[in-house]
Amino acid sequence: MASGDRIFVQAIRRYCANHGIRLDVRADGWLLAMRRGETRHFAFGYDIGLNSAIAHRLANDKSATAEVLALEGVPCIPHLLFLNPKLGRNVVGAAWREAMLVLLHDNPKGVVVKPNEGTSGRSVFKLTTEVELDHAVGEVFSMNAGLVISPYVAIESEVRVVLLDDEPLVVYSKQRGSDWRHNLDAGAKPVLMEDGEVHTACVKLAVDAARAIGIAFASIDVVRVDGAWQVLEINSGVMMEALAKLHPELVQKTYDAALDRVFGEAR
Ligand SMILES: Nc1ncnc2c1ncn2[C@@H]1O[C@H](COP(=O)(O)OP(=O)(O)O)[C@@H](O)[C@H]1O
Ligand SMILES: [Mg+2]
Repeated sequence: MASGDRIFVQAIRRYCANHGIRLDVRADGWLLAMRRGETRHFAFGYDIGLNSAIAHRLANDKSATAEVLALEGVPCIPHLLFLNPKLGRNVVGAAWREAMLVLLHDNPKGVVVKPNEGTSGRSVFKLTTEVELDHAVGEVFSMNAGLVISPYVAIESEVRVVLLDDEPLVVYSKQRGSDWRHNLDAGAKPVLMEDGEVHTACVKLAVDAARAIGIAFASIDVVRVDGAWQVLEINSGVMMEALAKLHPELVQKTYDAALDRVFGEAR
């Protein structure tokens, strides 16, 4: 096994070896081509290939996710979309900056600006002033076609639920370090959650969110704000690199369950 492989690739390698599936690894491990008999299956990035194209697109788009959840009455943090003015005047109206300033004015505790299709906490800015807003918007638009603005909320706790259909396979809370964000890449630690009231509430909300966008295999982040749980984001790629350092068997079991679904094996 190549030592530089991501956990995701290692887990798929192991599954394929144990199930007589031929695996070709391409593009430095980002493209995985599996074959068993007539069955051809791909994994790409952190996408194991179980979700419909539209569910994947909705989950990858923070503003679309928030819109759909709001439509379905699932509590979530609002994410308002602003397209990059470089896309042209026909696409992006002239009033975008004024609209951002209104949001800044309406949220005295601040706003969070981040890429609409971001992951891992990259280019996520918390800000309260116009100067900070211009800096953040410049940074995000230098690399992204769209950004989202949310009201800044004081997150009391953040929990990740990995679901396969309606079944929670992994539930952990993210204990943040010195940073205000809860990304594991930014130093937060995953702590597995015991059964109980909080576990039940988080799983129920995650299942409601997954059903709302029609996603089968996903990791769903929920946050508690003023005592109430809301959805922060849905990731259609299930990334467990940090979790695997602490709980390798659980991670393998989770990818095994998803791949059993792919290859039609009863569990
Ligand atoms: N509106 C917000 N208010 C407070 N904290 C936020 C807000 N949005 C994001 N965060 C924090 O920043 C982290 C990264 O944001 P997230 O929406 O998950 O983007 P990414 O896809 O980059 O992980 C979250 O885990 C959360 O702790
Ligand atoms: Mg996140």
